[in-house]
Formats: sequence, C-alpha cells, structure tokens
Amino acid sequence: MQISDDQSPLEVSAEQLRHDVNRVLDYLTQHLQTLDSQPAWDLADDDASNVSARETVPIEPGQFDAIIEDLFSNRMTPSYNPSCGGYLAYVPGGGLPHAAVADLISGILNKFVTLWQVAPGFANIEADVIDWFSGIVGFPNTAGGYLTTGGSMANWSAIVTARRVQLGDQFLDGVIYTTEQSHHSVMKAAVLAGFPEANVRLVSTTNLVIDVPALEAQIQSDQERGARPFLVVANAGTTNTGAVDDLSTIARVCKEHNLWLHTDAAYGGFFMLTKRGKNRLSGIELSDSITLDPHKGLFLPYGTGCLLVKNACHLEQAHKVAAKYLPPFQEESDRIDFCGISPELSRDFRGLRVWLPFKLFGTQTFAAYLDEKLDLCQYAFKQIQALEQIEILAEPTLSTFAFRYRPRDCSPGDELNSLNQRFLTEVNRTKRFLLSATYLGDEFTIRICVLSFRTHQRHIDDCVEEVRRVTRLFNDGSSTN
Ligand SMILES: Cc1ncc(COP(=O)(O)O)c(C=O)c1O
Repeated sequence: MQISDDQSPLEVSAEQLRHDVNRVLDYLTQHLQTLDSQPAWDLADDDASNVSARETVPIEPGQFDAIIEDLFSNRMTPSYNPSCGGYLAYVPGGGLPHAAVADLISGILNKFVTLWQVAPGFANIEADVIDWFSGIVGFPNTAGGYLTTGGSMANWSAIVTARRVQLGDQFLDGVIYTTEQSHHSVMKAAVLAGFPEANVRLVSTTNLVIDVPALEAQIQSDQERGARPFLVVANAGTTNTGAVDDLSTIARVCKEHNLWLHTDAAYGGFFMLTKRGKNRLSGIELSDSITLDPHKGLFLPYGTGCLLVKNACHLEQAHKVAAKYLPPFQEESDRIDFCGISPELSRDFRGLRVWLPFKLFGTQTFAAYLDEKLDLCQYAFKQIQALEQIEILAEPTLSTFAFRYRPRDCSPGDELNSLNQRFLTEVNRTKRFLLSATYLGDEFTIRICVLSFRTHQRHIDDCVEEVRRVTRLFNDGSSTN
C-alpha cells in the first residue's frame, strides 16, 4: 500500500481534529454537568449482562463519531465514579479537567522528556515540579525525584533504591520493617525488589501506628542473628484510617541503626500544603525517600505518582545505566535526564499534568481545598460519633476516619462483622455516595475518606443523614437480622 502525505489515513486535517475534539468535548462537558447527579457507584450484574461485550480486533477503519458514541453510551457504566463528590470510598480520585488538557497537549506534541538534551524546556518543567514537591515536604535542595504512574510504583522504586544504596548486590539478608497498616503495595514492592516475604517484618502497632520500642527490639534481634536491617517503611496517612506514624522518632531510630527511612505519603503527603497537615506530618522531612500521589492529594487524574529522594545521587546510583545509542547524559546537576534516575525511558510527559494546574491555580488553591477536606472529615466524624450505638474505631488524623455499628449486646466477632456488612450495604444503597470498608485486625470497619475536590458540605450532610437513617433503622431492630 502506497501512502502519500496528502492521503495519509493516520494524519488528520486541522478541521477534522477540531471536529473530533469538539465531539469529545460535547460528551465530556455533558458528563461534568451531570456528574453530581450520577450514581457514585454501580456494579456489573452477576452474569455481566450490563457490561459491554469484549470484541475482536478491528481490521477495517471505523467512524469516529460512532466509536465515541459507543464509548460514552455503552461502556461508561457500570462503574465506580471516583471523581464525583459523593465518592468517599478507598482514597477518592481526582480528575482535574486541566490536567487532561495538559495530556492532550503532551500527547500531540509527543516530545521525549526523559533525556534533557532532546527537550530541555520540557525536562525543566518536570524538574521544577519535582523541586516544588521537594519544597512542600521540606526536603533540602540536594533532593531529587521523578514522576511515576502512582504510589505503588513509587514504593517499589524506593525499595529498589534503598536496596542498591544500603546493601549492594548481595542483598538477600536485608530486612525491611513496616506494619500491617501499610498499603499492600509495600509488601508487593519488597517482593518485586527481590526480597522473600519473610524478610519483611510487620512490626506491631499501638493505636494503628508503628510501636517504636517494638521496632527497635526487632531491629536489634535481627542484627544479633546476623541479618542486615536496612529499611523502615513508615506511613504518613494509611489507607485504612489515615494514621500517621511518629516520623521524627522513627527517623531517630533509623539514624542510630543506619537504616533508610522511606515514608509512604501517597495519601497524606499533600496535606503538607496545610498548617494542620504540616503539624501532623512533622518529621516527614527526616525521611530518606517519600512516596507522593498527586492523583490523590492534588486531585489529578489517575496515572500521576511521585518518588522523592533526599539525596538525588542515590537515585542515580540505583538507576543509571548508559547506552551507546542514546545522547550522553548531562553533567550539570540542574539538567535532569529522568531516564538516568528512574526505571523508564520512553514515557508520557507527566510533568505537564502537574505543572499546568499548579501554574493555573497556585498552591494556595490546593491548600484551601485540602483544608476543606480536613474540615469536612472532622464535621462528619463529630456527627457520626454522636449517633446512638455507633463506635468510632479510628478518629481522623487527616481526612479519614473509621467506625462501626455496635449494638450494646453485640461483642466483636463474626456476627458483628456481618451486621456491619449489612449496615454498609444499606448506607450505600441509594448510590448517591459510596463508603468502603476495611478490616482492623479481625474487625470489619466502615471508613469515610474525604478527598475528592468535588466533595463539599452538602455531600457530607447527605451522607451523614443516610448513616443516621440506617442507624435508626438498625436500632429499631428491623434490619439487624
Ligand atoms: C498509603 C498508600 N500507599 C500506596 C498506595 C498505592 O498507590 P497507587 O494506587 O497510586 O498505586 C495507596 C493507594 O491508595 C495508598 O493509599
């Protein structure tokens, strides 16, 4: 098949591009205008009959309008709606529209941003974003980092970096310390970094945060039997309850024993933009590395995480491998070749997705929204705490808290757990919002996490009212069996 410039099916005229993008914008604006009245969640039927069917590979070209119509009309639901204000489950997603505008720009320009020499202006944009984040967490200007696709990848890269720096090539006697409150990506990251699960110590917790004397005792006992403790993974906002470990004390222990301190601040990190967040996360700047998730605390679309490392040289030490077919790496420290400090070579221009909203709104706007989330969570907590036969299992440290329905005559155990499963199902029934659950130890626990930039007072009022209604219903005894 001969393809000429003027008849290239993969090329698009200005007119066609405008038409196609406008067509998509019609759907997107309609989606945004109706988002608040859309269900916060929906699920596939058991037989998946409400799910669009899988397809064979298309060989013939299709029509843009028809393809997009099919996407928006048939494939959007059933689904969770993590960008809507009623979504209070897990850690809510963001979806700032201007980040998507940035993605459109970077996708069409398609520059290569991980080698400074080939797109220095764009590489500098991403380097600025990393510097801004470093400033937010209180890291010195020796710090560096890169944007990942999410917190899981950042945790993995942090463990690989700590392993390379602390242990060298023979690392199988290295020991990692964390708690069972950590996100499961920490264990996954340890295993993917080459460690047997048995090398990861789940240190006991007190009030859901790491028990520091237990940590010290465990480190000492591992040292005495000849193993090599090298890393503590602490939490600055657990997924379960938003609990924050005592970062300053853990940092002291790490220093004493020459351990690397990685702090998983995927959920909590950007609360550092607020005064209350800074107080609660104090000591985070003493970490050797930090995971942040802009697609949580900065409300960006999924696909934007970040790893910061206090000493940028350590990232280079862990990742730099030269290749003869690439332009040489830069010598100057302010010219960042991201492929030399991270696992990826070709990738999207994630920096623009952060840079554009930051330039447009300024950090003060993000701080105001995060403050609003802290307030809303406190408000919801106080209202729900006051309900009869509601037990609080974790008070808010940030914008999450955990509770359960606890009739006076019902002790913890399977019966109480299944009662609370029914309670949660009833609360979520209207689909106007979604709460999720976790287990704290063996206790089924309902949790509320306020993080969507679209969650405001009326969503919380609505949710609290529903929890109140269901509590009354259960207190009346009509739904407890
Ligand atoms: C504390 C914490 N760490 C890590 C992760 C994993 O992040 P991601 O889903 O971006 O991979 C999450 C996700 O919710 C989290 O809450």
